[in-house]
Amino acid sequence: MDVLAAIKERFSVRKYSDRQVEPEKLDAVLEAAMHAPTAMNRRPQKIYVIESEEARARVKANSSSYYNPPVVLLVCYDVELAAQSPDLPGGSSGVMDASIVCDEMMLAAWEQGLGSCWVLRFDSKGMAKAFGLPENVKPAALLYIGYAADDCEPANFHTTLRPLEEIVTRL
Ligand SMILES: Cc1cc2nc3c(=O)[nH]c(=O)nc-3n(C[C@H](O)[C@H](O)[C@H](O)COP(=O)(O)O)c2cc1C
Repeated sequence: MDVLAAIKERFSVRKYSDRQVEPEKLDAVLEAAMHAPTAMNRRPQKIYVIESEEARARVKANSSSYYNPPVVLLVCYDVELAAQSPDLPGGSSGVMDASIVCDEMMLAAWEQGLGSCWVLRFDSKGMAKAFGLPENVKPAALLYIGYAADDCEPANFHTTLRPLEEIVTRL
């Protein structure tokens, strides 16, 4: 197991091949969502798997970052299940929980040889309406999944990292 290698190798895939994602590979990605840690183990994550052309068109209509992936995961959290505390940003752990789920799925996808791209640029209300989400289920992220196109390259800013000395303060 070399998690750090996967973390270093992974990059956002913004150009996908037409190759379909095998169901067992998608299942492995979704399994990661089940095991992700969540605040107080409340497990508020709710993931919608979007594969049909018609449903993906609804995603496209509500996102300004659409890269035509074969699979879209709409990663949500249930506000009623998420941990709540005035100390949390927005009073809820929901976005944090969903973010960890997203990250774990990105790494699981990479392990399966699949690319992914986390997308925040979408109309949350429009997306909720487009898929008839219950009032208590809030979208947090889109995660695109699929095989990278042969000519897909990491964005040039992928390697632009702030040095450790800048992001880490040893106290
Ligand atoms: C919270 C979050 C939101 C993001 N939103 C978008 C987005 O809306 N569109 C997009 O193309 N990429 C999006 N990305 C991908 C980032 O741009 C990308 O992870 C970052 O530039 C580093 O590049 P890399 O993933 O190739 O290492 C998002 C990533 C994160 C973590």
